Amino acid sequence: MDQEVTSEQIKEAVRDAYGQIARRFIEEPQAPKQSCCCCPSTEVSCCSPSTAPTAQPAASRLYAAEELSDLPESVTETSLGCGNPLAVAGLRSGEVVLDLGSGGGIDCFLAAKKVGPEGRVIGLDMTPEMIDLARRNAQELGMTNVEFRFGQMEDIPLPDESVDVIISNCVINLSPDKDAVFREAYRVLRPGGRICISDIVVDGDLPQSIRRRLDAWTACISGAIDESVYLAKIRAAGFERVEVVSRQRNIVDESIEWDELGTAGESDEDQDAEQYQAHSGLGLSDWASRVMSIKILAYKPA
Ligand SMILES: C[S@@+](CC[C@H](N)C(=O)[O-])C[C@H]1O[C@@H](n2cnc3c(N)ncnc32)[C@H](O)[C@@H]1O
Repeated sequence: MDQEVTSEQIKEAVRDAYGQIARRFIEEPQAPKQSCCCCPSTEVSCCSPSTAPTAQPAASRLYAAEELSDLPESVTETSLGCGNPLAVAGLRSGEVVLDLGSGGGIDCFLAAKKVGPEGRVIGLDMTPEMIDLARRNAQELGMTNVEFRFGQMEDIPLPDESVDVIISNCVINLSPDKDAVFREAYRVLRPGGRICISDIVVDGDLPQSIRRRLDAWTACISGAIDESVYLAKIRAAGFERVEVVSRQRNIVDESIEWDELGTAGESDEDQDAEQYQAHSGLGLSDWASRVMSIKILAYKPA
């Protein structure tokens, strides 16, 4: 039986999962919020960027207190990132910034403060409910230099060389076509422009039985690829000075019963374990220690 998941299934699952989260944020603002990076389902939450218990909202673990001080809880509580790409972006007044997979908009609002009224921030997201949530948040903040556009990062609805800086926080792992994402990012950046990414990668590989799980895709696990492959894709798109600025390990929530792999039959699991052991030297249950949150900075040649 062919148990590979298709790109269409992944896109649909991601849009459904994040649509549900956005609706919950809009309809039940008082309800307990996600407490880790991307945790779109209640059954499978995922990796959290710290090993500490995840009772605090994600934003306070990712951003400095002073960065968050003038954002309302309605914005900070919609943070679903796994890092802080702005920490390496060095944004300057007047720059045009594009956020790939902007979600509720937290990074866009922080960027908008840094680029000021002369600058502009565009948040792009493929989930209509997330665009709705982000626009509500922008309205509440009264920010006029931020806009949110519906679209896919594999086919960015912007002209060539129209952006100074691209940021993205825990999104590219969700794409089944990462080459297209980096190709498009390169196209829309002006020469000399930079891309600043926080994302989930793997040191090595994941078992096929995890890769096949759609719930683990939407939780930012199954789409995570080996770090060196990820960096090679960025270089292949044309970027130079590709640098990993930071890495954080031990981010997978260990309270989750990840061993209950669900989709694979018993014999498939045995085969999977054998293959995984052969090429990674790890047992099936050890993969989680290889998942990392990293921050990357790269430049389009001037
Ligand atoms: C884990 S959330 C991160 C949201 C935001 N960056 C943050 O830090 O709070 C992932 C977001 O990426 C969006 N997304 C996933 N795949 C996408 C794609 N191919 N194109 C555009 N947006 C996408 C989802 O709709 C969701 O809003």
